[in-house]
Amino acid sequence: MEKIHAAITGLGHYLPDYVLTNEELSRMVDTSDEWIMERIGIKERRIQREPGQATSDMGAAAVLDLMKNTGLKPEEVDLLLCATVTADMRFPSCACLIADKTGVRNAFAYDVSSGCSGFVYALSTAARFVESGRYRKVVVVGAEKMSSMIDYTDRATCPIFGDGAAAVLLEPTTEEYGVLDEEMGTDGSGWKHLHMKAGGSLCPASHETVDKRWHYVYQEGQAVFKWAVLKMADVAETIVKRNNLDPETVWIAPHQANLRIISAVQKRIGVAPERVMINIDRYGNTTAATIPLLFCEWEKKLKKGDDVVICAFGAGFSWGAIWLKWAYDAR
Ligand code: UT7
Repeated sequence: MEKIHAAITGLGHYLPDYVLTNEELSRMVDTSDEWIMERIGIKERRIQREPGQATSDMGAAAVLDLMKNTGLKPEEVDLLLCATVTADMRFPSCACLIADKTGVRNAFAYDVSSGCSGFVYALSTAARFVESGRYRKVVVVGAEKMSSMIDYTDRATCPIFGDGAAAVLLEPTTEEYGVLDEEMGTDGSGWKHLHMKAGGSLCPASHETVDKRWHYVYQEGQAVFKWAVLKMADVAETIVKRNNLDPETVWIAPHQANLRIISAVQKRIGVAPERVMINIDRYGNTTAATIPLLFCEWEKKLKKGDDVVICAFGAGFSWGAIWLKWAYDAR
């Protein structure tokens, strides 16, 4: 039997309208456009401010955009995975809510939680379902309302994150396209450097946890930075070397956490800066949504047969890289 690969065959996205600029942030906390641009590389980020709009609404909008772009019908979807750390509720899963809001009724749906590595992990998981031959239309959506758990009095974290969502459709092919190789890793001892202290089973919500501001992202920036540089560059380089990918022609789609981390990956692999997809300046770190959002912006430049390496590092700690052979020319 011919080997089945899982190929991305279409994209969709959603970004909230509200633009939170560095100028506005510098009126909220003691920071400046200069510091944020120099240390992180973000100029502005989108924030979901519409009342009653949660992560599933952004995810659903991205999936509906994907359906419009590809002609995918809700009843055709076999599996819907949502990569997120900002699900609307602790349960049910955000994927179930997105399925409901998009009319997806014949699929099973669940969330993948792995912080900023979420999309890479969800894509890896989805690829196995497609490669099994049993599932033919699999939607992977990365969706985050990071603003729902960011402390806008903490200058160390509030400039970094933004909101948004993007979705990909995965379908089987017996040609050499789609997900072809991957390298993943985790080190759970890294939890202490990046987590949310309360709201889970360890420390359920209480007046005390609210007073202590424990329902926001806690991050030890420097520790996370060091690990991110090391691990993202390691896995991306492993994938490039193992598959003899040409640094002159390969595209790198790195998670967008800090422009300095992205530059470190670019230098380690030895690709030209223009082969690296970057949109951190406009959207910040949208956690599980960054990589599919990059695909949406670069779709018109990508050609069938192009080599694309995605790589990410996030909470856990978790990290991973995937080699994709792009499967279509933009419509
Ligand atoms: O995607 C999930 C994984 N997350 C990441 O990959 C994030 C990784 N970490 C980072 O990107 C960086 O560590 C940060 C952007 C979070 C922080 O940048 P940094 O260069 O590591 O700054 P720092 O934490 O070492 O702080 C340096 C100084 C401190 O002042 P002092 O103690 O030297 O006087 C901070 O208080 O910069 C200060 N600072 C700021 N100043 C102006 C921290 N945040 C700000 C700010 N504006 N927003």
